[in-house]
This record gives sequence, structure tokens and C-alpha cells, in this order.
Amino acid sequence: MSNTSEGFASTPIDSASAAAIADQGLRLGLVDTSDTPTFTAWLRADHRGFHGPEASDEMMAASLAGYADRRTTAVWDDAGRDAPTPVATVNSWPAPLTVPGAREVEAWAISSVTVAPTHRRRGIARALLEAELRTADALGIPLATLTVSESTIYGRFGFAPATFNTALTIATHRATWIGGAVPGSTHFIPVPEFRAELPAMQERLRSTGVGQIPSWSLRWDQLTGVVTDDKSRTAKLRAVAYQDAGGALRGLALFHLDGNDESFSTQTLSVDYLASETDDAYAALWRFLLEMDLVSTVKASDRPADEPLLWQVADIRAIKVEPYDHVWTRILDVPAALAARRYAADLETVIAVDDNLGFAAGTFALSISGGVATVTETDAPAALALRVNELSALYLGGVSAEVLVAAGRVEEREPGGAAALDTAFRSARAPWLPFWF
Ligand SMILES: CC(C)(COP(=O)(O)OP(=O)(O)OC[C@H]1O[C@@H](n2cnc3c(N)ncnc32)[C@H](O)[C@@H]1OP(=O)(O)O)[C@@H](O)C(=O)NCCC(=O)NCCS
Repeated sequence: MSNTSEGFASTPIDSASAAAIADQGLRLGLVDTSDTPTFTAWLRADHRGFHGPEASDEMMAASLAGYADRRTTAVWDDAGRDAPTPVATVNSWPAPLTVPGAREVEAWAISSVTVAPTHRRRGIARALLEAELRTADALGIPLATLTVSESTIYGRFGFAPATFNTALTIATHRATWIGGAVPGSTHFIPVPEFRAELPAMQERLRSTGVGQIPSWSLRWDQLTGVVTDDKSRTAKLRAVAYQDAGGALRGLALFHLDGNDESFSTQTLSVDYLASETDDAYAALWRFLLEMDLVSTVKASDRPADEPLLWQVADIRAIKVEPYDHVWTRILDVPAALAARRYAADLETVIAVDDNLGFAAGTFALSISGGVATVTETDAPAALALRVNELSALYLGGVSAEVLVAAGRVEEREPGGAAALDTAFRSARAPWLPFWF
């Protein structure tokens, strides 16, 4: 965490949004997460907002501890019949986001955006989002990020998808392994051992994995059933570890099987998580999962957009790939954001950025030399004109400027401007975050 974002949780609530909410007879405020009754009511409102079930006492206790360190905001209707329960929620925290060049930029992660159905479409979410963006900007954080329930909501606030995940459905009998033999060995391990090993491995992967932010303890507890309100899934979980020829742990997979008496030999294997630090670990774990007896279908979601697995099976059509937008970003400070990442080629260009909320608007000269960018405001004519949304989509190197020009989403004012930008911005591997936040 940088010096600028220290104390982020108690930074005063945004006055413009507080006034907009007050105009509706409602109250915007920060939640003291050490105040158990108040934070419990906030968590219940958050669960209800996403149509989740009432949390068990165990889940509530874990959530009170697990989310206590976030900046937690609520809207209350003090005249309502259940005044202690917020009618809207949001939380946020500064998260290091891995950017090209194995570097990090501090990003304002936003989560738990809910407005009660009783109070929807009165501008409450807009007040919350604008407050988050102004707070992050005031803290000197150069971009905001979130994962979204619906892709129609956040474009109006300057966000755009910068990474894509995929859901895979694999017909195992057609997916004969052609990826070759892999040294090392794969072993079943107890799920608690998987839980113990995964965070450190994920942290190692995060340091170079463009698009990654740190996960958190409660997420791993929920994934592995340490804390869960879904005991039936937990009971089915199996874990394996791959160790290389020297015995070092290089990969972990968590999965479960679903079948019944009528489909005993055609069960479905669902991959709950697969983390690999080497190509060998990746191949060994996928091969293990695809060659499981009594299984006809393997499913996995939140996989990367450029899964090598497609090239490791005899019939590429055995793998149905469904892509979806995942990490959305929203640049607030163009010079700081662009200077934070590294680039694949030198570039001299000018971009004109439009931002209907004002934060990122301007014309910027972008000078990239030796992978490092210097960004200054300029009056020079722009090679490319685009909204902050499209610049945010391009930022992590997973989206093509030429494609956005073809889509009419970026205006190319100088021929070749988009291709030159792509050569500098794009990465060989797709940015990827394997979980939601
Ligand atoms: C999505 C949600 C937060 C919107 O809250 P809200 O207070 O009704 O939204 P607002 O009234 O502030 O609307 C702000 C703008 O977003 C638009 N909008 C709101 N919800 C939308 C949706 N689901 N799809 C598309 N646009 C939406 C509004 O039309 C409005 O547009 P405008 O200001 O450009 O005219 C709320 O419906 C909700 O809690 N949904 C369930 C939980 C959820 O999906 N949360 C989002 C998590 S990422």
C-alpha cells in the first residue's frame, strides 16, 4: 500500500454524494467494521442484494473478520421500517494490480455494490460509484477496478472490460491427450493441505500474472470448504498436487465429481481451481483431470482467454470455450497509470482522451523508450481519440486498439496509429484473474 492510500478506510465520505443521497431523505456513511451489530446488518444487506441466502452464524462470524479491513460504505433509510439495515452497500480497498512488465499499479478495488430492490433506480448506485471514484482520485490512486454482475452497468462510469475469462466444457472421450509425457508426479493431497499451500503459490503467480490482484484468506476458506454454507459441495472436494522431478511443488488442483447411479460411468468433473507455476505442472494436472475414468465431461470456469490446453488435445472441438468479460478497469490518472506498466516496443504518439466524469480527460503525448513510458499533456494533434473506457480496456494489453477502431470505439486520426499502439501495449499472454471480487 502506498503512503497516499494509508488510512483509506477512514477517509471521510464524499460530500457531493452524501448531499445527493441526503436530498432523497437518506443517509450515506461509513460503517465501523468493528461495530458488530452495524457491520452484521451491512453484511446481511450485501447478501440479500445479491439474492444470497441468509448467512449461517459461522459464515457471518467469518465475514465479520474477513472483510473488516475494507472501506465499507452504506446508505441508510432512517425513516424505514428496518432502519438499521442499509438500503445500499459498497466496499473498496487499494489493491496492487499486476501490469505488464511484472510491475504493480495501485488500483481501487470496488465490490459489494448493492441497492435494495425497494430503493432501486433512484440514482443511489450512481452516487456510490461516483463517491468511490472521487475518493480513489483524492487518495492519488490512478485507476479503479471491479468485476461485474451485469456488463451493462459500469460503462457509464468510465469502466470497460480489460480481461476476459472463459468457461470450458470438455468432452473427455474426444479430448485425447497429445501434449506429450511430462516429468514429475501427481499425488492426491488432503483438501486442508491444498488450502495451506495455495495462497503462497497464488502470490507467486500474481507477481508476474498481468491482471491479478491479491486474493484474501476468506476466499480460500470458502473455496476449500473451511467456511461454507454449501456442505454438499465441500464433501465432494478432492485435491491433487503436482511435484516436479526434483520433488518441488509446482501445481495444485481442486475438483469435485457429480454423477449418480444412472450416469455412473459418465460423471461430470468440475475443476474448482487449477494453479500451475510451470508448463509441466499445467500439462500434468490437465492430463490427470481429462483422463479420469468414469468421467465424460470436464467443466472449468474462470480460466484464461488463451488456455494452452486447446493445443494439447487431439480434437480441438472437444473443448467448448465460452468467453466472458471479467476484470473491468477505469483509469483516473492517465500519466500515472500509463507510466506504471512496461511496454513491448518504443512508441511516440498522442492520444486524446474523453471522460464524461472529468478525471482522465485531456490530450497526452506518450513517449515510450526501452519499455518505459513518459506521459505529458500536450496541444499536439492526436493520433488516436478515445474515451477513458477504451483506454482502460487497452491498458492491460489484452484488448487490441485495431479491433476497437474496427468497432468504431476508437477514432484513428493518423493512419497506423492503432497498430503502433498495439505493438507497444499488447502482451503475448492474455491478462487473467482467476477469481471474482
Ligand atoms: C445494479 C444496482 C446496484 C443499480 O442500483 P440503482 O441504485 O438502481 O442504480 P441507479 O439508479 O443509480 O442507476 C444508475 C445508472 O445505471 C443504470 N442501471 C442501473 N442498474 C442497471 C442495470 N442492472 N443494467 C443496466 N443499467 C443499469 C441506470 O439506468 C442509471 O443510468 P443513468 O444514470 O445513466 O441514467 C442494483 O440494481 C442492484 O443492487 N442490483 C443487484 C446487485 C448487483 O447486480 N450489483 C452490481 C454488482 S457488480
